[in-house]
This record gives sequence, C-alpha cells and structure tokens, in this order.
Amino acid sequence: METSCDETSAAVVDETGIRGLAIASQDAHAAFGGVVPEIAAREHIRALDAMVRHAMQEAGVDHEEVAGVGVTAGPGLVGALLVGVNWAKAYAFARKLPLLGVHHMEGHLFGTALEHEAARPPFIGLLVSGGHTLLLEARAWGRYRLLGQTRDDAAGEAFDKVARRLGLPYPGGPHIQRAAEGGAADRFPLPRPMLRGRDRPGDPSYYDMSFSGLKTAVARMAAECEADLAADLVSDLAAGFQEAVVDVLVEKTLRAVERTGCRRVVLGGGVARNSRLRQRLAERLGSSGELYAPSPRLATDNAAMIAAAARHRLANGERSPWSLNADAALVFPGLV
Ligand code: KG4
Ligand code: ZN
Repeated sequence: METSCDETSAAVVDETGIRGLAIASQDAHAAFGGVVPEIAAREHIRALDAMVRHAMQEAGVDHEEVAGVGVTAGPGLVGALLVGVNWAKAYAFARKLPLLGVHHMEGHLFGTALEHEAARPPFIGLLVSGGHTLLLEARAWGRYRLLGQTRDDAAGEAFDKVARRLGLPYPGGPHIQRAAEGGAADRFPLPRPMLRGRDRPGDPSYYDMSFSGLKTAVARMAAECEADLAADLVSDLAAGFQEAVVDVLVEKTLRAVERTGCRRVVLGGGVARNSRLRQRLAERLGSSGELYAPSPRLATDNAAMIAAAARHRLANGERSPWSLNADAALVFPGLV
C-alpha cells in the first residue's frame, strides 16, 4: 500500500515482478493548486479498499496466497500515511502476516529496479520527487551512503511552484517540460545554485543542492515582464528554469560518479520523468556509464515499488513491529 501523498495505490508483486497494480490519483486537489493534507487523507480512506481489491483481482490471488504486507510508513503527509499504515496493520494482524514498513524514497529505488534487471547495487541513486531530492551511493540493498540532498525546496516542488507562477497547472513538472520545448533556455540569466567550480569534495556544498533561490529568480523575472507574460516568455522562462535544475542535478550526480568510480546511475521519483534530465544525464555518462530510469507509471507514486521493497526485506527475514506508526519525517533506512 502507498498513501503518503495524493496517490492511493495497492499492488501485488512476487519474484517475477508486478502481478497487479492499481493507482487512484486524487483530482480533488487541482482547484487548490497543491495537495491539501486533510483532503488527501479522506480520499485515501475512500479509495484504499477498492485499490486493494483491484490489485488482487488483476493478480488473480486471494487472501490465502498473500505472504506479507508492505506499506509506506513515511516520509509524507502524516494523516495520509496513517490511512495506509493502519489498513496494513489491521490486515496483517487479522491474517497473521508479517508487516513491513517501507521508506517511501527507498521504494522509488525499487520501482526502477522492478523494470530494469540491471538496476541493482552498487549504484549512484538520484531520487527526485515532489518532497525530496537525495543523492546517494547504494552499496547493497539496505546499505546506503547519503551524499547530498536539497537544503530547501525539492526539485519537484520547485517545478510545481515555478509552474504556478507561470500560470501553468498542477502538478507543474510535465507542463514546464512541455512549455520548455522550443523555448530559449539562455534568454534569462538564471543562477545554478550551489554549483561552483571551486567546490571541493568534503565541502558540505559539494553534493548538496538548493532550488529555492532559483525559484525566486524565475518569479522575479516573470514579475519584471508581467505586463506581457506572453506565451514565448513562459516558454523561455520554463526552458531556462528546467535547464538550470538539470545542470545542477547532472553536475552533482557526475561528481558522485567520478568520486566513487561507480558509473551506474539509478533515477527515481516523479522528476525522473523529465526527458531533458534523462537526456543530459545519459550524454554525460557516455557509453561507459549505465543509466536506469523508471517508466512514467512507476516514476510517480505507486504501490508496486513499496511492495518490491517490502518483498526484498521479507526475504531477508526482516519485519516491522506491531508498534509501526506513520512517521512524516522518517529517516532514510540503512545509512552507513
Ligand atoms: O515521486 P512523486 O510522484 O511524488 C512524490 O513523492 O513527491 O513526484 C511528483 C513530482 C511533482 O513535483 C511533479 O511536478 C514532478 O514529480 N514531475 C516532473 C515531471 N513529471 C512529474 N518534474 C519534471 N518533469 C516532469 N516531466
Ligand atoms: Zn514519491
């Protein structure tokens, strides 16, 4: 089960991969230009039973065949997480099954691995979603070294906020990408935050990122042109912004690749859908590197990735205690 934000999802996986997957994207938030936590929680309560039923029907399994229950325990919206966690606990308790709480962002890594046989540790992971931006070295499943993260806005959050400023719908990422096509990325001089030639390994800023100032810079330039925020301006600002974010993400990832000598990169999270990011990363990695990115369906939030992470942990003999609770700020597991 996955209910950390605004997708209600359930899935059944086994050793062959995804057997059943159901995702309900909540559209009740569109009018607000962002996710309203209370609405998200209520919508999860309404949709979760049906999602589980659909996933099990598609998989053709009945309750007796289920070997364990995995659920996103955090991070995310606490009210939303509570719905999935309590559903999973009740189901596992009633059916005497092992329960496994999964970290949402670790789940995104397993999402990509579900589709790419070779997306296995060791790899450099770049996790870019609406709530998080993490750069890590995966030495093995469950053993990670956190290299860097954003100090303020997540990459996806910046896409969403810039889109809103430019009058584009929520979620903003896909709309920015579309608006950026044909735009002149170099028309506006936008900053590349925390990217300086003099950065040295060991500096706290070497791998860390920041997108809040960039977002403000776009807003300021939009305000200067406000009188005529014509389509070409929106398109140029979108292209300039996207290029700046991609420059930062690609450079930080390549620093990790070069410092660790690990040329396999695994992308995860909603922003992994961005085609410019994938294209630029693939170019920089060249033929000696490997880049694995999820398909659009598995890039954004879904329960298949959570089930895959839970299955792996179950196979390792792990399980969560009955005291498992929703944790809005759950720390990434297995950091070494
Ligand atoms: O992983 P995800 O579904 O949810 C979270 O865990 O947050 O990511 C959602 C984020 C949103 O901020 C959305 O704008 C962004 O992914 N996104 C994109 C694209 N498609 C979705 N960002 C940039 N380019 C895209 N094509
Ligand atoms: Zn996510």
